[in-house]
Amino acid sequence: MITAHLTVDPHFEVGSINRRLFGSFVEHLGRCVYDGIYEPGHPTADAEGFRQDVIELVRELGVSTVRYPGGNFVSGFRWEDSVGPRDDRPRRLDLAWHSTETNEVGLHEFAGWLEKIDSELMLALNLGTRGTLEALDLVEYSNIRGGSTLSEQRVANGRSEPFGVQMWCLGNEMDGPWQLGHRSAEDYGKLASQTAKALRQLDPSVELVVCGSSSAHMPTFGEWERVVLTEAYDDVDYISCHAYYQEKNGDLGSFLASAVDMDHFIDTVVATADHVRSVKRSDKQINISFDEWNVWYTDRYHAEEELTGIDNWPIAPRLLEDVYSVADAVVFGNLLISLLKHADRVTSASLAQLVNVIAPIMTEPGGPAWKQTTFFPFAITSRLASGTALEVKLDAPVYDTAVYGTVPLIDAVATHDAETGRTAVFLVNRSQTEEVTVTIDIGTLGGVAVLSAQTLSDSDIGARNTLADPERVGLADNGSAAVAGGTATVTLPAVSWTAIELG
Ligand code: AHR
Repeated sequence: MITAHLTVDPHFEVGSINRRLFGSFVEHLGRCVYDGIYEPGHPTADAEGFRQDVIELVRELGVSTVRYPGGNFVSGFRWEDSVGPRDDRPRRLDLAWHSTETNEVGLHEFAGWLEKIDSELMLALNLGTRGTLEALDLVEYSNIRGGSTLSEQRVANGRSEPFGVQMWCLGNEMDGPWQLGHRSAEDYGKLASQTAKALRQLDPSVELVVCGSSSAHMPTFGEWERVVLTEAYDDVDYISCHAYYQEKNGDLGSFLASAVDMDHFIDTVVATADHVRSVKRSDKQINISFDEWNVWYTDRYHAEEELTGIDNWPIAPRLLEDVYSVADAVVFGNLLISLLKHADRVTSASLAQLVNVIAPIMTEPGGPAWKQTTFFPFAITSRLASGTALEVKLDAPVYDTAVYGTVPLIDAVATHDAETGRTAVFLVNRSQTEEVTVTIDIGTLGGVAVLSAQTLSDSDIGARNTLADPERVGLADNGSAAVAGGTATVTLPAVSWTAIELG
């Protein structure tokens, strides 16, 4: 029998969990918006054309903040196209995804949808093909109550109260050569600094995210962060991280250890931000907005899906519609564990994306909406992880991977809510063949019992939920979880993710 041991102690605090850690991302890409959240002809559509079956699933998922409207899309976006009378809105060619954007859903409609799901709007600004002035215009339109042409235009367009958007991204993935308006770290850092200063003059309450690296594997990673923050440290609040993982060349062992890479990514960006802070003798701490993360089979996108052709600009094509397996969901749950382990510095995050596009929720036009395997770890973690993230003292066997070296077979994090007295423990077993029995020292929690224990696993780790079989994969109660004499025990199946609630 393989065993591992954890100690969960409410004194081992990492930091408070910001609800923004459970954010998501809606981009005008593929069928995320059109035929995703919005489908006026659908039997469940409300008066505004939004699918209520999707709204119910998004509510169950428990997303806090939603980043919008891109992504790569934003670097060619003119925000003015997306407001005002619908019939007057232009149709534009979106170069990022080689699609036609009808602008039927824009800022007002999307903000209205967010009210239905009770989530916060996070807007990305176009600093690729546009600049400081257009960014100022959008913030004025969104956040100034009235009395100026742009704020009065918002009122005339049906929104008397300001949108009051707090979180703003200063562009998207500006380190990426694929990005419209991609530039050097120094040029981008200067533009971000100038834009941030201007935005704060307009609205001092804004929280600003400067672009970090599109992945820890970019050739400029590390130096990009150092240079950008050297230019913009005093002007911004967050630096972004983006990371996508996929199983490559049948190397499941490395794929299952993807969170090791995310841990390292976060630690490195924190170290770089703190280095710049010390050079600047600054009192201010820059935190991380991990505003794109997920499993994404990018190789498949480039090989099979990428659209081309001068006469080929479809509306809402099926793009990036990855269908997630149990193994994908275990990795995904582990990425959430990594975010929680860094809750002191990762204070905002966005699962990319929300519906149809690399998403936990899928829809069929005129048909049903269903949960992908990744829905379950997100929904449960969002519901149970509150209060403070705790470091767990982990003693586990290790295994060798081709990509990340020797890594622990188990990964875990705990959270403790002093108000409710509840503790949650999230665990993954990365073994491909063996179950692992974990003993958890919970003596300092006092007399607690297992309130729930749920596991995602399957004898077929390739099992998926599909239109034909939408409930093939789900969570199961883990009957092995028990508490006796200050120790909890639980057995984790091979390739599994588990959440235990104690209280
Ligand atoms: O989420 C899909 C794409 O991934 C986003 O548009 C871009 O920012 C990233 O490269």
